[in-house]
Amino acid sequence: MSFKKQLLSVILAGCIIISASACELIQKREPDPVLPEITSETPSQPDTSTDTESDTDTSPKSAKVDFTGTDGKKDISLETGEDKTVTVKTDTGEAPVWSSSDKSVATVDEKGHIKAVGAGMCVLTAKIPSNSELDLKFTLTVREKKAEVSSKAESSKPVSSSKPSDVSSQQASSAPERSLAEEVQTDIPAPISHEPEKVSGIDLSLSTTVMTVGQTLTPFVTLTPNYVDNTAVTLTVSDEDVLQINQDGTITALGEGACTLTAVPESNKELKSSLIVSVTEPVIEEEPDPDDRPTVNNDELPRSECYVDGILIVNKTYSLPQSYNPGGLTWETQQAFNELVAGAAEDGIHIWCASGFRSYEYQASLYAGYVSWYGQATADTFSARAGHSEHQTGMAIDCNIINDSFTGTPEAIWLENHCHEYGFIIRYPYGKQAVTGYKYEPWHIRYIGDMATEIYESGLTLEEYYGLTSVYGG
Ligand code: DAL
Ligand code: ZN
Repeated sequence: MSFKKQLLSVILAGCIIISASACELIQKREPDPVLPEITSETPSQPDTSTDTESDTDTSPKSAKVDFTGTDGKKDISLETGEDKTVTVKTDTGEAPVWSSSDKSVATVDEKGHIKAVGAGMCVLTAKIPSNSELDLKFTLTVREKKAEVSSKAESSKPVSSSKPSDVSSQQASSAPERSLAEEVQTDIPAPISHEPEKVSGIDLSLSTTVMTVGQTLTPFVTLTPNYVDNTAVTLTVSDEDVLQINQDGTITALGEGACTLTAVPESNKELKSSLIVSVTEPVIEEEPDPDDRPTVNNDELPRSECYVDGILIVNKTYSLPQSYNPGGLTWETQQAFNELVAGAAEDGIHIWCASGFRSYEYQASLYAGYVSWYGQATADTFSARAGHSEHQTGMAIDCNIINDSFTGTPEAIWLENHCHEYGFIIRYPYGKQAVTGYKYEPWHIRYIGDMATEIYESGLTLEEYYGLTSVYGG
């Protein structure tokens, strides 16, 4: 087995695992961490700089402040590129002074128009000049705008990863912002960090699986932690003759063999998860082919006590010696017939044995009687000569009524449809006189055991099934 590195990469972004398969594992994203809500009761520290001003300020002091645009909340979530306007009104009509603790995360203008710039967190402050106790602080979380989920993995490029955002490092890079941020940190509880997490684990759920050629599979990947921002995963296969990665991220089994499917997270290529896939050819259930049936050379078979496929053959060609005398129905035949009678009874059908074992001598006298009554040619169409009757085997039974009035009766129809279930066949079917040598006998069943159903389902006579003749002197 050659292990060729597949160059084809499939990027699975976000929750895009789509179709069903045996080893699916849906990549879940837990709810995003909830920031502690900043309520109006949140204590704010006195602003000393404005306090100083307020000592000399004679203008009316605001006693009331209100804001709109956030449904009354002070924690705001935006995606990069989004914007929102928060309108702050005071009873004195004075305009608030807006500022952002991190302009790389969001900017805000004098009218409270907020624009989300990059993923991360910051605090937006609306200072009320005449009364710092009324200052409003809004916690803003900015998330990376999610890539559109596509059913096609048309690119091997990873979906853009989250912009690293670290509030403390941003503060350190800008002195004025840092002082504001420090002030903010003293005013509000430290928010839960939502900096982008690096993938620390990847799991394909299964380590081994079996596919058949032609089958498809959609691998499901779990990343740890499950709220990482960059969920892009690259899939590769070790043998493209065995597995193919399709444009939509599914895997198709192409040929027999073993192949390793490897998943690597784009944001941490030191990690991987592997799935060993064993591909086998599908098992095709073969229909029984009539041409596959065992055939014999009729001319080479013994004409007396001939067995074909374990079945004792008795007809006009194949005979039994006078000495062949089991003394009655064979044990297997009797057992099978008992079960047949019981099975028929369950269906409301009454079957009985009208004629079972017949010795060579008894058959000789029977045949002689028919010849004297009907003539030999006619007698030969329905009665076997001595040594040529299946009744001498102890494996043939004439059921119920031994004449044409039995034809078409519920009992005859039941035998036609069910006797094979008990190891019997209708030995002389309708329309097969040229093959079997005898007219239709719906009452005559022959026990042949396991082959009964196959022969029944073939629709062939015993002669046709094995390629035998049934001709006196043949
Ligand atoms: N009726 C069948 C052919 C027999 O006599 O054995
Ligand atoms: Zn018979």
